[in-house]
Amino acid sequence: MPLQDVCTSTLLVGSIELPNRLFVAPMAGVTDRPFRMLCKRLGAGYAVSEMVTSRKDLWHSLKTSRRANHEGETAPIAVQIAGTDAAMMAEAAAYNIDRGAQIIDINMGCPAKKVCNKWAGSALMQDEPLALEIVEAVVAACAPHGVPVTLKMRTGWSAHNKNAERIARAAENAGIAMLTVHGRTREQGYKGQAEYDTIAAVKAAVRIPVVANGDITSPEKAAQVLRYTGADAIMVGRAAQGRPWIFGDIAHYLATGEHRARPLSLDVKRWLVEHLHEHYGLYGEFAGVRTARKHIGWAVRALPGGEAFRAHMNTLDGIDAQIRAVTDFFDELGQQYARLPDLGEALLEEEGEAVEGRVACTAY
Ligand SMILES: Cc1cc2nc3c(=O)[nH]c(=O)nc-3n(C[C@H](O)[C@H](O)[C@H](O)COP(=O)(O)O)c2cc1C
Repeated sequence: MPLQDVCTSTLLVGSIELPNRLFVAPMAGVTDRPFRMLCKRLGAGYAVSEMVTSRKDLWHSLKTSRRANHEGETAPIAVQIAGTDAAMMAEAAAYNIDRGAQIIDINMGCPAKKVCNKWAGSALMQDEPLALEIVEAVVAACAPHGVPVTLKMRTGWSAHNKNAERIARAAENAGIAMLTVHGRTREQGYKGQAEYDTIAAVKAAVRIPVVANGDITSPEKAAQVLRYTGADAIMVGRAAQGRPWIFGDIAHYLATGEHRARPLSLDVKRWLVEHLHEHYGLYGEFAGVRTARKHIGWAVRALPGGEAFRAHMNTLDGIDAQIRAVTDFFDELGQQYARLPDLGEALLEEEGEAVEGRVACTAY
């Protein structure tokens, strides 16, 4: 597909039409409903929820019920489920469909110990029969509701065992409607570089849509990955943290071959303040103020005075104080820079390397 069409042409996942082909990646502890809504508002065509455990005993925990809350979210509602038992995964799919899920995504990509020790996430790639059993059970549970099932995986278990292509073919035969491939193995965690040869091979091996993911940090990289892999869509994770307008930046670049102007400081302030209010609405004041700190930190990390501001902001405990501090910071920035100063790709790439130690991929 010509690159210009990526941001304007729709993509069918089963019978569900996505408005464009720029997706935000599921990130536990990050892509909650307020953040997904923000990304969608700023150009992402699709957002998958943070993963929800297939363990029934945890469905009523505060964490899982927050994750299953989709009030006001722009359709389609896509819920990612994680687990190791086919019957439990099928039940989890049905449970989430009852709560509004229109697409169910199976997590075969998360490398975090908490998931992998329980033989879920990307560990499933090492047990292909079990992976397939889960896929078949979830597809069977979703089919009567007309809900498509998608799969997110890595390139394989290790450098010597890259089985994404084989799993992709089997998954397609079992009725999976779309595949996302993160260009790293389980063994790599988040280290090293994502590679795109395996994603290209997966794309060539199946007819269902394939989404390329891993280390897409700029519009140029998005174009390069789309061209190289032939993928139908791209998914951006860490580079959207603190920079949710990256989807609009990518869309503009793909459409015109040029970079659009950096956002106005006052727009960034408005987006962040609106996001924070949604965030407090979901988590309440006590948890909301604390969990909002990471979003604020990402938003200011590369800006002049950002580090000092982040340290100060971490000492503030209430909604009013946090909102006031953010407002003052961006008002002051706006006096000096009408548009955000250059954030610098280098910083984003460093962040990518550093993320391994603090991945909050906690399903339970
Ligand atoms: C903090 C964090 C949490 C993540 N949580 C999930 C998750 O719940 N489910 C999942 O499939 N992948 C998860 N991932 C992986 C991302 O979806 C994505 O595949 C990965 O970050 C590579 O894309 P990127 O280089 O654009 O960040 C997580 C990644 C990060 C950094």
